[in-house]
Amino acid sequence: MHIKLNNKVVLVTGASRGIGREIAKQLGAAGAKVAVHYGRSSEEAVSLCKEIGRGAEAFRADLADAGEAHALFKNVVAEYGQIDILVNNAGIAVLSEVEGEYDEWLSDWNRTMDINTRASAILIRSAIPHFKQHGGGKIINIASRAAFRGDTEEYLAYAASKGAMVSLSRSVARAYGKENITSFVIAPGFVRTDMAQDAIDAYGEDYVVGGLALNKLTEPKDVAPMVVLLASGLADHATGNSIDINAASYVH
Ligand SMILES: NC(=O)c1ccc[n+]([C@@H]2O[C@H](COP(=O)([O-])OP(=O)(O)OC[C@H]3O[C@@H](n4cnc5c(N)ncnc54)[C@H](OP(=O)(O)O)[C@@H]3O)[C@@H](O)[C@H]2O)c1
Repeated sequence: MHIKLNNKVVLVTGASRGIGREIAKQLGAAGAKVAVHYGRSSEEAVSLCKEIGRGAEAFRADLADAGEAHALFKNVVAEYGQIDILVNNAGIAVLSEVEGEYDEWLSDWNRTMDINTRASAILIRSAIPHFKQHGGGKIINIASRAAFRGDTEEYLAYAASKGAMVSLSRSVARAYGKENITSFVIAPGFVRTDMAQDAIDAYGEDYVVGGLALNKLTEPKDVAPMVVLLASGLADHATGNSIDINAASYVH
């Protein structure tokens, strides 16, 4: 199977680092024109665009801000004329003590929902009419096994934000499939990125790997090929699905 994404424009959120960076690289290697979204890591985003080539450009937006999330889709369309595939990857995992100070907990909850869920919903809302106008499109949402398994007490907001992403994705798949719009979820477990590093540091890599069925920690390069496959259209009849990529640490 040889996947070619030539003439496809893909917006990858949170492409400056971690999983999103590898997704952007592999989509670019398959021929796509990649809109590399970033929040704070501008140098990383610009260097990635150079590495990918093929017209890849960096777009800044703080996804905690609804207005910036809304403008992001428009800015990419203004530059490239269209978007064919949206990858909602940007996210945060904030450690927040349930029994800690209420105001702090509420602020963590709101920030998590704003970035992980609301920004994804805003981008999806922008994508739907655009995709309808252009004969279809694909949405690939990077959620987490936490959406299905749940998480520890410090990550209630994180798990809930990813659960919302799953039901949002399934609803879009059901509602817009006839318009050639497909929507998928990928549910990773621990992946070696800055986000997972705190847990790896706290518990040790052996402990984290001990929870997996395989002998090594999942890397971004183990997640990205599935995104390329879903983006290709070869798996359209899996629309609505959530695909576990977590080394059998939680299979739903
Ligand atoms: N790593 C894991 O173990 C794991 C497991 C399950 C699911 N996931 C999910 O996979 C996705 C990627 O995670 P990762 O591990 O690659 O995380 P990461 O290394 O921490 O990277 C996060 C990315 O999201 C962007 N981002 C965060 N907050 C933002 C904001 N307010 N505005 C704009 N961009 C923002 C960052 O951009 P800047 O640096 O440019 O601000 C960065 O590119 C997330 O949705 C995460 O929940 C990760």
